Amino acid sequence: MIMEEHWKLVYVIGILALGFAVKSNADGSISCGFPAIYNFGDSNSDTGGISATLNEILPPNGETFFGHPAGRASDGRLIIDFIAEGIKLPYLSAYMDSIGTNFRHGANFATGGSSVRPPGFSPFNLGIQISQFIQFKARTTTLYNRLSLNRRIPLSISNLPRPAEFSQALYTFDIGQNDLGHGFQTMSEKQVRDSIPDIIGEFSKAIHILYKEGARFFWIHNTGPLGCLPYNVIYGKKPGNVDKNGCVKAQNEAAMEFNEQLKNKITWLRTQLPFAKFTYVDVYSAKYDLVSNAKKLGFVDPFNFCCGSFYGYHINCGKKATVNGTVYGNPCDHPSNHISWDGIHYSETANMLVSNRILNGSLSDPPVSIQDACHHQTDI
Ligand SMILES: *[C@@H]1O[C@H](CO)[C@@H](O)[C@H](O)[C@H]1NC(C)=O
Ligand SMILES: *[C@@H]1O[C@H](CO)[C@@H](O)[C@H](O)[C@H]1NC(C)=O
Repeated sequence: MIMEEHWKLVYVIGILALGFAVKSNADGSISCGFPAIYNFGDSNSDTGGISATLNEILPPNGETFFGHPAGRASDGRLIIDFIAEGIKLPYLSAYMDSIGTNFRHGANFATGGSSVRPPGFSPFNLGIQISQFIQFKARTTTLYNRLSLNRRIPLSISNLPRPAEFSQALYTFDIGQNDLGHGFQTMSEKQVRDSIPDIIGEFSKAIHILYKEGARFFWIHNTGPLGCLPYNVIYGKKPGNVDKNGCVKAQNEAAMEFNEQLKNKITWLRTQLPFAKFTYVDVYSAKYDLVSNAKKLGFVDPFNFCCGSFYGYHINCGKKATVNGTVYGNPCDHPSNHISWDGIHYSETANMLVSNRILNGSLSDPPVSIQDACHHQTDI
C-alpha cells in the first residue's frame, strides 16, 4: 500500500518534471519554460501598482505602445515587459490592481517609489511586497484548491496561479534606486554610503524569506546610474561633481558601491541557499552605455527628456500649466529620440535597448540568458 502510494508520487513528479522541461532551445539545450514571473521593485518595473492605489498614471504615459496609460511610468513597455515577452508569458498584472487583472502566470508587486528599506517615497517597501507575496501565495493556493474541486465553476480558476508553479517561477528584482535617491535628498554622501550594507542586508532577508516559501530561480537587476537621470543632473549638478558624460559623480559612485555589495551578497547567498539559482544582472552598465553612446545610438542630448518639466516650473508628466500664455508640459513629438521619458524614467526605446543587452546574458553573472536562468552552465 505504502509502496503503491510512493510509485504514484514518483509518477506524478515525473509528469510534472516533464511538463516543465520539454522546450528546447536552438542550440539543443533545454529551456527552463518558466510558467510564471513574480516581480519586486519600484517604478522601473511597476506595471500598475502605484497607479491603482496612490498616484494615477496619466496620459501621455503609454502612448507609444499601449495607446493609453497602462500603469507604467513610460511611453511604452518597461524592461519587465520585455522579460515577459522573452520567456513568452503575458505582461504581469499588478498585485494591487483590482480591475482587469490576471494572475495565471505571475504577479507584480513592484510599485513606483518603493525602496528596500522604509522610509522612502512609497509605503510599499520590499518587506511589504514580500508580505503581500506570502499572502497572495497562501490565498490563491486555498482558492485554487477549493475551486478546482467544484467542477461547476471551472472558469473561476483560469486567472489563478497554479500552486505547483510557485517553485518553478522566475523571481525578478529591480529595487534600490529609491533607497539611494531618498538618501541623497535627506542625508550626506557619507551617510548614504554608510547605509548601503543595511539596505543590502534587508534585500538578502527578503530573498531568504522567498526561498523558504519555495522560490528557487532569482533574476536580480543591480541599480542603474542614478546620477545620469536628468532630474538628478538638474538638481544635483555642481561645478566639479560631474563625470565626462555629464552625470553626477557621487550618485553614480554610490550606485556602484551598492552594486558591488549586492553582487558580493549574491555570491554569499549561493552558499547559503544551495537549491537556488541566482543571476546577477548588470543593468547599470547597459543604462550607462546608452548615456555615453547617446549620439551614436541616435538619441538627442541624454539629459533632455520628453514629458513634464523640471526647469523653472516643476510639472509632472501628464500635467500642464499655462504661465503668461505659454503652455508648459506638452510632451515631445518623438519619445523614441529620448533616453529619458520624463526626467526620471526611461523611454520605451531605451528600455528595449537595455533589455536587448541584458536578456541574452551578456551582462549577467553567470552569463545565462533569461530563458536559461534555471540552470547555470556550471551544472550542465
Ligand atoms: C508673467 O507676467 C508677469 C507680468 O507681466 C511678470 O511679472 C512675470 O515675470 C511673468 N512670468 C513669467 C514666467 O514670464
Ligand atoms: C547580446 O545582445 C547584445 C545586444 O544586442 C549583443 O551586442 C551581444 O553580442 C549579445 N551577446 C550574446 C552573448 O549573444
